[in-house]
Amino acid sequence: MIPHSMPSITINGKVYDFEKGQMILQVALDNEIEIPHYCYHPGLSIVANCRICLAEVWAPNPRNDNKLEPIPKLLPTCQTAAGDGQVVFTESPKAIANQQSVMELLLINHPVDCPVCDQAGECYLQDYSYQYGRGVSRFHEQKLKQPKKDLGPRVLLYMDRCIMCTRCVRFTQEVTGTSELLVDGRGAHSQIDVFPGIALDNELSANVIDLCPVGALLDKDFLFQQRVWFLRKTPSIDGLTSSGDNITIEHNKGRVYRVKPRTNPDVNTWWITDEVRYGWKFIHDETRLAIPAVRGEDPFEPVEAPLAWEAAYARAGVALGAAHVALMVSPMLTCEDAYLLARLVTDQSEKVTFAVGPVPRIGQDKTFPSGFTVRAEKAPNARGVRRVLEKFSANVVDYDAFVGQLRGTATFDTLLLTGNYPSDWVTDDFLEAIGDRTVVLIDTFPTKLAERAEVVIPGATWAEKAGTFENVNNRLQAFERAIDAIDYCKSEAQIALDLAAALAGEDPQVFNPATTRQQMALVHELSEFLTDVHLPAVAPMVDSDMEMVEV
Ligand code: SF4
Ligand code: FES
Repeated sequence: MIPHSMPSITINGKVYDFEKGQMILQVALDNEIEIPHYCYHPGLSIVANCRICLAEVWAPNPRNDNKLEPIPKLLPTCQTAAGDGQVVFTESPKAIANQQSVMELLLINHPVDCPVCDQAGECYLQDYSYQYGRGVSRFHEQKLKQPKKDLGPRVLLYMDRCIMCTRCVRFTQEVTGTSELLVDGRGAHSQIDVFPGIALDNELSANVIDLCPVGALLDKDFLFQQRVWFLRKTPSIDGLTSSGDNITIEHNKGRVYRVKPRTNPDVNTWWITDEVRYGWKFIHDETRLAIPAVRGEDPFEPVEAPLAWEAAYARAGVALGAAHVALMVSPMLTCEDAYLLARLVTDQSEKVTFAVGPVPRIGQDKTFPSGFTVRAEKAPNARGVRRVLEKFSANVVDYDAFVGQLRGTATFDTLLLTGNYPSDWVTDDFLEAIGDRTVVLIDTFPTKLAERAEVVIPGATWAEKAGTFENVNNRLQAFERAIDAIDYCKSEAQIALDLAAALAGEDPQVFNPATTRQQMALVHELSEFLTDVHLPAVAPMVDSDMEMVEV
């Protein structure tokens, strides 16, 4: 007989291999077998306090010729190491009776407020009630009333709904090391609380909202904003810092409602910073540039779309045909944006200077005890933009050097500048250095530079386009477009394609990130864009399966 190299375990009649050290629940989850669980989370220590994952386990008894024997008590699968030859039953009458008892106990004091609870639709208490609950309550006494608490700037606690899994407490102890949360009191009167005078206020604080398996911890920002079943989910990448954190943008009818972490063990594990979670608000800022504008006689007014595009491209085309053009690509843009803009200017002008736009930094990188790092660099793609531009020129300058060139003897006739920062980025120093040169600007917010430019073209934010970012660890990650761009905004890649087509008198092409990455690899020796780009591991768009019904 050929020896079996890996240990194996039988769960509900099927045999699965496992790595030594794995718990039974981990083996089950890895093999997509559902065992109900509340307190277990792969990113936290195991406490086995909710008791819903208990199962009947039979194991070989070495004192009895390795004969398979039942272990007298049900065992918590989250805390019991898988053993070779074990046989586990999670659907036996004993296991089901335990699941029903735990659900009954948890629901004794739980308010029936699903219709007004934000968690409804993604609540494990709801899901497990449906699957493992009794269906009727035998508790006719008065339910225990628990308070609502304001835990910090991001998080509310509706203590009535808490099931005391302690995930939130362990998060602040083990992941952030800030220990703001604690369990106060005993038995049915236990409460989650903060220490007096100390708010739940750290860079990762809102992760406890995702961790809470029920609707006890609530996001102040998302409170009563949307029913979760109306939200569409698009996998994306942090578009605000150099972390490359994997995220899901949740949106409905062209509006983003929230951003959540997407699990990636190689990048952000299960967490994101509050900065990444809430930093998207500028996408829907009403002051955003929304329509192309061309400097006319006087005053400088946006012209009416769709003539606006024609006029903007015509004026930009003349400006880019100058003898010496400088292209400054913002680190907020994608690699594809950078590539198509660089290709456009090299096709139009005899001499081109390439620069990377300002890369904002705030403080220093901060690493938590769990190893999670908050990045000081507040731009998603400084490395990717440089990587692409360096295929067009051996001398790509950074922002400070570019300003130095503008102040010095550089003979630039036209500047093609890009911004796309979440707020005003233009300094008086930069404006002064530009002098009276012709400026074509692609940007998102009105700035002094927009007032001063010959042509202003509105760019789409990262949630409104697809592309690739290279993070601080040189990992290339592609992301999808979550929502349509507002008004007349377009991605810089699309603007470059449209402008090139307008100047050549051809029909414009629709930007396709995959095709562009192919061109980058085949024409400009950027083969890594074919081989090394990490695509989202999940389906690009998950549609809500619920329709709004007129009543
Ligand atoms: S608030 Fe939520 S995460 Fe914290 S112990 Fe209660 S149920 Fe668990
Ligand atoms: S998940 Fe196992 S006891 Fe809670």
